[in-house]
Amino acid sequence: RVGKPLVVAIDGPSGSGKSSVSREVARRLRAAYLDTGAMYRAVTLHCMTTGVDLTDSPAVESAARTIDLDISTSPDQESVLVAGSDVTAAIREPAVSSAVSAVATTMGARAELIRRQQALIAGSGHRIVAEGRDITTVVAPDAQVRILLTATEEARLRRRGDQLGGTQSEEQLKRQVTERDAKDSTVVDFQQAADGVVTLDSSELDLDQTVTAVLEIVRAVAN
Ligand code: DC
Repeated sequence: RVGKPLVVAIDGPSGSGKSSVSREVARRLRAAYLDTGAMYRAVTLHCMTTGVDLTDSPAVESAARTIDLDISTSPDQESVLVAGSDVTAAIREPAVSSAVSAVATTMGARAELIRRQQALIAGSGHRIVAEGRDITTVVAPDAQVRILLTATEEARLRRRGDQLGGTQSEEQLKRQVTERDAKDSTVVDFQQAADGVVTLDSSELDLDQTVTAVLEIVRAVAN
């Protein structure tokens, strides 16, 4: 990869626009991109398809340790492989979204995924935009740029609704966004910015404006 080492860590709740924003920021910076949520999703799907009980913490931890997981860190190629098979689309299914908090709240599984994420960041030559819930605090607390991307609940429900094709009721969306965040918040705090983390509220910004705002923070901090 070309360019100086530059780790941009972006955390935020569901529907904050993290993934689309982070991917585009990575493209513009010619950096790698890591969607850590996709790794929690891949472990969840793997447990579901291999009959691992998601309430059995040691079994979930063991699945996280042994899974043959290959995630692309190119912002132009979205690809997640488990044991060589392409699960890029399958990990976005509602059944996985509903179950993923079980993996996210299993501390042994987190420890293993954090270790893998740190290895992927090192493998990028430390030139990467990594996003999730605990990147600014746990995975890459020493990143040059650390951002908490927030948005009002109304904006987050609207975005997730649009993403899912506008077919979901307000109640369904609340279950998928607000309740999942409440569960995940029991193990990682992504509602409040940690010390030194810049908060960016995207409620009134579109994708392009948010990308521009992130790049301004990168320029201010990293130059
Ligand atoms: O961003 P996402 O919706 O694809 O994330 C899926 C789940 O993974 C989400 O419920 C929280 C969890 N997660 C996490 O606990 N830590 C991360 N760094 C990323 C995601």
